[in-house]
Amino acid sequence: MNEHSAERLWLVVPAAGRGRRMGTELPKQYLMLAGRPVLAHTLARLHQAFPAARLCLCLDPDDAHFDSSWVPFTQWWRSPGGAERVDSVRQALVMLADVAEHDDLVMVHDVARPCVALADLERLFAALCEDEVGGLLAAPVADTMKRDDGQGRVARTETRRGLWHAQTPQGFRYGLLRRALDEAVASRLEVTDEASAVEALGLSPRLVPGRRDNIKITHPEDLALAGHILAAQRDDPLSSPGYEHEETS
Ligand code: C5P
Repeated sequence: MNEHSAERLWLVVPAAGRGRRMGTELPKQYLMLAGRPVLAHTLARLHQAFPAARLCLCLDPDDAHFDSSWVPFTQWWRSPGGAERVDSVRQALVMLADVAEHDDLVMVHDVARPCVALADLERLFAALCEDEVGGLLAAPVADTMKRDDGQGRVARTETRRGLWHAQTPQGFRYGLLRRALDEAVASRLEVTDEASAVEALGLSPRLVPGRRDNIKITHPEDLALAGHILAAQRDDPLSSPGYEHEETS
């Protein structure tokens, strides 16, 4: 960890999804990417940035593909995934209730984002240490945005000014995040990320600009794209210095 290493950091990695949009039998976190499963890449990258952090990995209780040798962290927990992503993350927080302090930082990162750059992880962490609410990596929208009419035609063009793609990690203090997710689940609010649960409390998470290549592997073509991104990042010291070394050692 960097100069803020006094902060107690928990990493929560939801990895209990089936990834139906990939159209593969194997859940997407176990698809092979540059010689090893997506999940192993994601955990290695988080570990490279935060070697002293503690990890809670959300896995489907019936997961038959997971191999604990892919976890590089010394201290880690396995928690059972729930029906939706929010249930998986909330379950992880419930499991950590006895060991995490109210003001500890929790960073939640999708297992399906193996290309997150080291420099972005460090910058986000530094920003979270200074922020009362918390925040997320995000990238400004570049394309023109269309709203459909439900029948395959354009209803209108939305302004892209001020619009961002929400990425992960997203980080908040344990107590705040627990309250936000408890309330979101209790009120059956549809939340697809942690920030929207915090927003529902009337708070405004910080947008920390991140690289566009922090893609979420979702559709079949994303896997090849992630492979190209990882290859390009090997020569880029801001994304993953020493990553290849760690990978092959
Ligand atoms: O399906 P999607 O790509 O939006 O999922 C985002 C992340 O949430 C993935 O890392 C996935 O494994 C995780 N997830 C989960 N539990 C669920 C659904 C998704 O941990 N029930």
